[in-house]
Amino acid sequence: MKQRPTILVFDSGLGGLTVLREVVRARPDARYLYVADDAFFPYGHHSEDEIIDRVVPLIGDLISKHHPDLVVIACNTMSVSVMAHLRSAYAGPFVGTVPAIKPACASSKTKRVSVLGTKATVKREYTQALIRDFAQGCEVTLVGSAELAALAETALSGGAVSDEEILAEFMPCFVGAGADASKRTDTIVLACTHYPLLLDRLNKLAPWPVDWIDPAPAIARRVTSLLPKALGTPDEVEAKMIFTSGRPHRLNAALTPFFGGRVPA
Ligand code: DGL
Repeated sequence: MKQRPTILVFDSGLGGLTVLREVVRARPDARYLYVADDAFFPYGHHSEDEIIDRVVPLIGDLISKHHPDLVVIACNTMSVSVMAHLRSAYAGPFVGTVPAIKPACASSKTKRVSVLGTKATVKREYTQALIRDFAQGCEVTLVGSAELAALAETALSGGAVSDEEILAEFMPCFVGAGADASKRTDTIVLACTHYPLLLDRLNKLAPWPVDWIDPAPAIARRVTSLLPKALGTPDEVEAKMIFTSGRPHRLNAALTPFFGGRVPA
């Protein structure tokens, strides 16, 4: 592996930027290629087979064209369906993003945890298995959202998103209204990489305070553990961004912070 590795970060849209941000913080010396498969967005509306048929060849093309040293699948909806297929098709290494059910259940005091993801993610056997294996006595509520990823994209692009639109998607996460605080949901897993983009709004609209579990820092630690040690930090993060639809990005001011302050090429 090259001392200054190339890391490919892949998502259906802009959600993977919340993972990229943490990885860039951990390894500012790496070269980054961020690919948004917006031509197929939203992944949450596709079946498992459609996602496998789309992602496996697409990642193969990206590997042959850009020769990344490591690939981060920065999308829960993809990861719960395709990681095994990718690992058997290509050498990798691959790092996936799957619902952080284990740490959420380990830290919940009320033993009531909700998992907020796309409709596809909450339906998948992979997610059900995580609950069977790691609920640790917690009551886990799965909440599949049809619209929140698209609302997050709109908000990041400077569009208007009303409180009512957000509330309608995430209120079912709050179980135990009317009960005393010791019996209510106290931990919510952000099981879609788009949702941390709305964290300020989610906190403002939440009927009571909860811990939101964002897996991005853990993914950055995993990436770091798979790479050789950094040789030093360059002046600027080297980064490129591609949309599969071919559209140019017009979000520079909004995107810059996710790339460690540098405007992506
Ligand atoms: N960012 C993706 C995830 O983590 C989902 C968005 C979509 O539906 O495409 O699940």
